[in-house]
Amino acid sequence: MGAKGLFITFEGGEGTGKSTQIALLADHLRQQGHAVLTTREPGGTKSAEAIRKLLVTGETGSLSSTAEALLNYAARDDHLRRIIRPALARGEIVLCDRFMDSTRAYQAYAGDCPAALVDTLEREVVDGTRPHLTLIFDLPVETGLQRAATRGDGKGEDRFERFGRDFHDRLRQAWQRIAREDPQRCKLVDATGSIGEVAGRVRALVQPLLKGRRP
Ligand code: TMP
Repeated sequence: MGAKGLFITFEGGEGTGKSTQIALLADHLRQQGHAVLTTREPGGTKSAEAIRKLLVTGETGSLSSTAEALLNYAARDDHLRRIIRPALARGEIVLCDRFMDSTRAYQAYAGDCPAALVDTLEREVVDGTRPHLTLIFDLPVETGLQRAATRGDGKGEDRFERFGRDFHDRLRQAWQRIAREDPQRCKLVDATGSIGEVAGRVRALVQPLLKGRRP
């Protein structure tokens, strides 16, 4: 990727606890003296946050999978140019809550956007900024949806949560498929158990990448 930074993405279905784990890992890395940037998708810039609103609120049928993929990639292009690539060029550790694999999982493998379109968008937009490590939080669908429902966010950002149970079953399989297709980069993380237990699993996967990095 050319830059000296480290790019780690956090992926998975609904309610898997990845946002909590990003905050914990960021604290842990900062305590060790590393410069860390946390961000999220869709979002991370003014334009991308405006696009996020279209995607995560409103009627489930308001957009096709293909329209969702294109909107996510419009947001991702802005996020990469303004936030992610500059931080990596400064040598920072970037922790991103969802990234390109969410489009592949939600829109292509669980949804009906052609995978060939996602391949092209990945190649042309993400280009040399593929993550060094992608942690995929894995949880039984029922548990995740329950957690997501009780959590709520008060902002009505639950459009995808309201997709049917079939969709969420396909989504869990999609994550497992992505982990199989790119085992070097993508690691499944068992998201069952306490927050502390999951944090331990996350640190164990991240630690090898920190070797030789001076905080
Ligand atoms: P969040 O709930 O993790 O903040 O993510 C917002 C929602 O957007 C989540 O339901 C997953 C969905 N999403 C996609 O469908 N495709 C994408 O490319 C991304 C980044 C998110």
